[in-house]
Amino acid sequence: MKFKSIDQLSPKVARAEHMLLGAEIAEHDRRYYQDDAPTISDSDYDALRRRYEALEAAFPELHAAESLTRKVGAAPSQKFAKAKHAVPMLSLGNVFSDEEVHEFVARVRRFLGLKDEAPLAFTAEPKIDGLSCSLRYERGELVTAATRGDGFEGEDVTANVRTIAEVPHRLKGDVPAVLEARGEVYMNRADFAVLNERQAEQAKMIYANPRNSAAGSLRQIDAGVTAERPLRFFAYAWGEVSEMPAKTQAGMLDFLHQAGFVTNRLTKLCHSADEMIAHYRAIEQRRSSLGYDIDGVVYKVDDLSFQERLGFVSRAPRWAVAHKFPAEQAKTVLRAIDIQVGRTGALTPVARLDPVTVGGVVVQNATLHNEDEIARKDIRVGDTVVIQRAGDVIPQVVEVLLDKRPHGAHAYKFPHTCPACGSAAVREMDDKGEEDVVRRCTGGLICPAQAVERLKHFCSRLAMDIEGLGDKQIELFYEKGLIKTPADIFTLQKRSEAGEFDLTQWEGFGETSVRNLFASIEQRRQIPLNRFIFALGIRRIGETNARRLARHFGTFEALRAAARHASEGSEAREEINNIDGVGDVVAEAVADFFIEEHNETALDALLREVEPQPMEAVANDSPVAGKTVVFTGSLERLTRDEAKAQADRFGAKVSGSVSKKTDLVVAGPGAGSKLTKAQELGIEVISEDEWFRRTGQG
Ligand code: IVH
Repeated sequence: MKFKSIDQLSPKVARAEHMLLGAEIAEHDRRYYQDDAPTISDSDYDALRRRYEALEAAFPELHAAESLTRKVGAAPSQKFAKAKHAVPMLSLGNVFSDEEVHEFVARVRRFLGLKDEAPLAFTAEPKIDGLSCSLRYERGELVTAATRGDGFEGEDVTANVRTIAEVPHRLKGDVPAVLEARGEVYMNRADFAVLNERQAEQAKMIYANPRNSAAGSLRQIDAGVTAERPLRFFAYAWGEVSEMPAKTQAGMLDFLHQAGFVTNRLTKLCHSADEMIAHYRAIEQRRSSLGYDIDGVVYKVDDLSFQERLGFVSRAPRWAVAHKFPAEQAKTVLRAIDIQVGRTGALTPVARLDPVTVGGVVVQNATLHNEDEIARKDIRVGDTVVIQRAGDVIPQVVEVLLDKRPHGAHAYKFPHTCPACGSAAVREMDDKGEEDVVRRCTGGLICPAQAVERLKHFCSRLAMDIEGLGDKQIELFYEKGLIKTPADIFTLQKRSEAGEFDLTQWEGFGETSVRNLFASIEQRRQIPLNRFIFALGIRRIGETNARRLARHFGTFEALRAAARHASEGSEAREEINNIDGVGDVVAEAVADFFIEEHNETALDALLREVEPQPMEAVANDSPVAGKTVVFTGSLERLTRDEAKAQADRFGAKVSGSVSKKTDLVVAGPGAGSKLTKAQELGIEVISEDEWFRRTGQG
């Protein structure tokens, strides 16, 4: 195998080679590990690997998170069966300060309508830095184990989990017929160090930290490998449970312990924000001597009936929060400032740094946020900077060490043109005449960077979730001119079969990988409506708003019809605006998107290929499902937030104003004009108690 000398490569060429080589190695890995059918000799394979590593050594920016050199064997994800979670596995909101803990407690009290004196307890437990797993027991026997995945669907890792000594195969005592125990799979620091030593001796993958090590060890195709890894498990939560054995969080933890799980002994029941914060400090003090990594403390409302009332917002419960430990910091040199162009044209400056380890992770990029931020901190190329990272957040530059500034360092000039398409990049004015902090490329459709970012978003995991079309592949397909718009993805196979191009001739694309790619594209021709809406990348339409729109309109045609007529002041605009949680800013963004003719054209092409599936109502057996409800007057059993959350849970839409489209008005004492209007329009008006009866809550 002949390669060009590395010092002759420009960064761009090196990047391209790195990408192709990565795909090629991945294909060989697959043939070797999954098919047991290698097609090249070991020494040729080693040469590819060495070249790949040499490229990364010469161009450290290539050593990104997706680098093969950080992966264990072949990517296992396609190897595990998917496992749907009966109850979604959610994440947690984060707080960083004492003040935010007080706010959290106050928010919970307000939602529940609890007076200051009313007792309210929380558990405070360490936040284990591993990966969460859901273990399903039927009649006390472990039947399936699944990773979290996207929260709704994970990977079936039953065989691997069975090898973990701390996971009981059979539960002790009297347990519910169905019990999904949830918790964290993790690795002790000492075990991690020993494992890495062993890996190094055998010239195998070295893990960056205990968490990666735990994840890599659990997701082994060969469960025999997992069995040799010292994994552990703490139980702290649950999914489906046929009969709840306790009424509190602490009670459930006791129950899980008695049933045979390890629960964390540093869990404490606290009765005030101050007590929670004190326990947080106590845990923080002991952090380094625990033997395993934790990254904060989780507070959970203890009373499970309160948890139920509080429910969820987006992907996180209202009844729990993670109080993270402060960010870890390090010093390094800033070598360059690159400008990235996002999906909506926003120019984001990124600092390229000399690689430095912060809290166990190698960092070489940090976000600089925007133009003003660079000016405010006077960040210059060549500066020594303090960076920090907290949790999964992108590392940030905290400050510049001025005494280390090299002579002749210039103040940074933010570009006024887009680095990708050369169009002018401007800062828009808002209604109040204030300049937006974000400078945006005005290139729109002609800007390749925006197009690529939109495609990446379209294919991403929470959107269309097209396996095999990751960021790198999209960049490649775009560059080759094969995929320019979302619809092109779905015509790829047809065009390939018509002989327009032959992917298998591309380096790194074997016949199997092409077949797999086409299969995963085919699978996505039918897609839940909310994902489809989210995938379009409409400004301000994140996952939650996409879900709200999907739930409200039910079909894409209905949304489109409304959005097309949603000019300012129109009835359609009002309708979108009135969806609970959506406001006029969002309604405007939706209208703006559908007004653009080129978006309509792209949509028509896409809808010839893809069929968004109508949305199921949340609880369609509830008598209020699908109804538009207005709450007015003072409610006595529910706070306003809670009323909205309940309506959401039972599949009703909440609106702020009464109109012809209102189905039901729940009126409490003191109701005024809305009640009058409802009566005029002949809309059904019920009391709060009746609301409870209708929704089956007694
Ligand atoms: S409770 C609905 N408790 O943190 C709430 N999570 O940031 C479910 N984690 O995905 C989570 N220790 O992987 C909970 N004591 C603890 C935890 C914990 C670690 C992880 C878990 C979760 C993530 C959310």
